[in-house]
Amino acid sequence: MKRTTFYFASLLGLATARSPRPAVQVGQHVIFSYPGATPPEHLFHLISEGKVGGIILFGENVDDNLPNVIERFLTTYEESPAYLGTPLLIMTDQEGGTVRRLPGAPEQSAKEVGASEDPVALAAETGEQAAAELIKYNMNTNLAPVLDVYREAGNFIDEFGRSYSNDSAVVAELSSQFIAHQEGANVLATAKHFPGLGAASAGANTDETPVTIDLPLEAIRSIDELPYYDAIAADVAMIMTSWAIYPALDAERPAGMSEAWVKDELRGRLGYKGVIITDAIEAGSLKAFGNDGERGLLAKQAGVDILLASGRNVTQGEAVVDALVAALASGGLSQEELDASSERVQRVRERLA
Ligand SMILES: *[C@@H]1O[C@H](CO)[C@@H](O)[C@H](O)[C@H]1NC(C)=O
Ligand SMILES: *[C@@H]1O[C@H](CO)[C@@H](O)[C@H](O)[C@H]1NC(C)=O
Repeated sequence: MKRTTFYFASLLGLATARSPRPAVQVGQHVIFSYPGATPPEHLFHLISEGKVGGIILFGENVDDNLPNVIERFLTTYEESPAYLGTPLLIMTDQEGGTVRRLPGAPEQSAKEVGASEDPVALAAETGEQAAAELIKYNMNTNLAPVLDVYREAGNFIDEFGRSYSNDSAVVAELSSQFIAHQEGANVLATAKHFPGLGAASAGANTDETPVTIDLPLEAIRSIDELPYYDAIAADVAMIMTSWAIYPALDAERPAGMSEAWVKDELRGRLGYKGVIITDAIEAGSLKAFGNDGERGLLAKQAGVDILLASGRNVTQGEAVVDALVAALASGGLSQEELDASSERVQRVRERLA
């Protein structure tokens, strides 16, 4: 038995004589979501069965009672067979400016931070502010900052001021400040959207429609990927992949379903050893890649660790878990790779324990 397998088997309490519980292991790789302010009881049931690895919250989920709801998610999880002493990942998008799911700080968008008098200090401060706001709600993971380097004023990522700058070195410095200070305040950070959405034109939104970013590999590596070296050096907990297609390495699959981008480029060339998470599994750009379960499996096979079932639909998360369990049984998903992935997820969650 391989060391990692043994480690997880023992952590999961799966003595070799007992039957393994694949849904519990797989569930730790799936983030669930739900509609409205009151989560369905079924979601608590799934958490208690150990089939849920985290929850993503949106504006429609937020009210004054949310901290209590999240407290119940966390305590329900502690009683589940999946619990290894580390919390469910409770996440949201609190970038700053208009992209904020919670009512509080940071008020400034990344672009405003970049254009401010002391951008380095403000990037650090907004990282701390985002952490403080999440902690008020009992959340522990922010799907921010954006590392995209925008090319044209008003394009997809610049439109809402989500990019710090059109200069890679500036994005690298400010985003790594945000990461270091947010994580210093005990909230995990997520650098997104690898390898970069900075060249996507206005309206080229992968949430809605397929997007192809046909840049030369040299441009992606020298401009878009540059901030990732600093984010990795700053010990970023997670990197989110983009759902755009980048023909420079893979003309068929979006980056988050592409071994060339996930395994060869991000893990291989950039040497990233942390957790990789997808963007929304329900994204409109993925229509050609099957149902939610099939999409999740393609991303997992490409080497992504965590799948974001963010359609505010508990059934969606279940469909992804079921597809991965079936693939594990049929050999479509490697147990050895899953074990290595579980270890990465657990290691990052230990930072919160
Ligand atoms: C960034 O934008 C500024 C202001 O529009 C422009 O002067 C500069 O040339 C741009 N830099 C790059 C690297 O495109
Ligand atoms: C919820 O997810 C399931 C499973 O993927 C899907 O069949 C269903 O259409 C989704 N419902 C909504 C309202 O999106």
